Amino acid sequence: MSQSIIKKINELKKQKNAVILAHNYQSPEIQDIADFTGDSLGLSIQASKTDAELIVFCGVMFMAETAAILSPKKTVLIPEKNAGCPMADMITADQLRKLKAQHPDALVVCYVNSTAAVKAESDYCCTSSNAVSVVNSLPTDRQIIFVPDVHLARYTAETTNRDLILWPGYCPTHVMITEDDIKNAKAEHPDALVLAHPECSEPVKKLADHLLSTGQMLDFAAESDTGKFIIATETGIIHSLKKKNPDTDFIPATERAICPNMKKINLEKVLWSLEDMQYIVSVDKEIGQKAKKALDRMVSILPQNIGAKN
Ligand code: 13P
Ligand code: SF4
Repeated sequence: MSQSIIKKINELKKQKNAVILAHNYQSPEIQDIADFTGDSLGLSIQASKTDAELIVFCGVMFMAETAAILSPKKTVLIPEKNAGCPMADMITADQLRKLKAQHPDALVVCYVNSTAAVKAESDYCCTSSNAVSVVNSLPTDRQIIFVPDVHLARYTAETTNRDLILWPGYCPTHVMITEDDIKNAKAEHPDALVLAHPECSEPVKKLADHLLSTGQMLDFAAESDTGKFIIATETGIIHSLKKKNPDTDFIPATERAICPNMKKINLEKVLWSLEDMQYIVSVDKEIGQKAKKALDRMVSILPQNIGAKN
């Protein structure tokens, strides 16, 4: 059954000159049919440079919107229009405008996990892989507002030694990973290295050996001699880690860390998406143009400190 769906997807992809981009948290079946899998920065770069006319984005809405803003001449489809990111909805453009009014001289850095309207109000956008580089590139005499993820912001503030103005947003999936989960996993696997996503809570990050975006975790595991890792992020990444490193052990810090929105897309929905050209991701023209300035800065500032941790 799934073989015939995959065959149809591949035929339609060719016919329509389409490319499938999938985030590292997507289900294994989706990662396996994608032309590119990656983290938010890697997928944004792919979206901005692909020659394909059509991008089928398997991820959550802010990622598909980012692709549409970076490639305004291409058509971007998301196979499930209700795949949102709760963190992205934790700050509105209006709330950000009010925060800016309280700090009129501050520069605004927004995490890519935000709405297009929030990006349009920001000077710079960043992902978890280049937040440190983006903040390091800013003049030291300017205050910086960092929204919406308080956990990525705290990690960035500590690493760059900058005082950031924070917003209390968070990822409901990453905060499910607890300090006890890491302690228990370490007690059971004392020889394993702990890789954690910067969206994790501070006590979890303190126990980690390295703080990395999902793409950086994949690179790190491939380059390391370590045979065992405890992975503190959404469990979807275990599939790509195992596929790329078949002889290494990857232990999820907890099986609870599942992002329900990332799991809303399946093979059938990808096929229907290509068949019916749905759902087209569109961003208001004026908002898109303003947001693109912050996003262009994001894709031009490459990550430093890969694998760095305080
Ligand atoms: P990455 O950019 O590290 O893939 O993270 C995206 C995300 O949504 C994390 O929750
Ligand atoms: Fe948003 Fe968290 Fe899901 Fe990432 S894992 S898409 S931050 S809810």
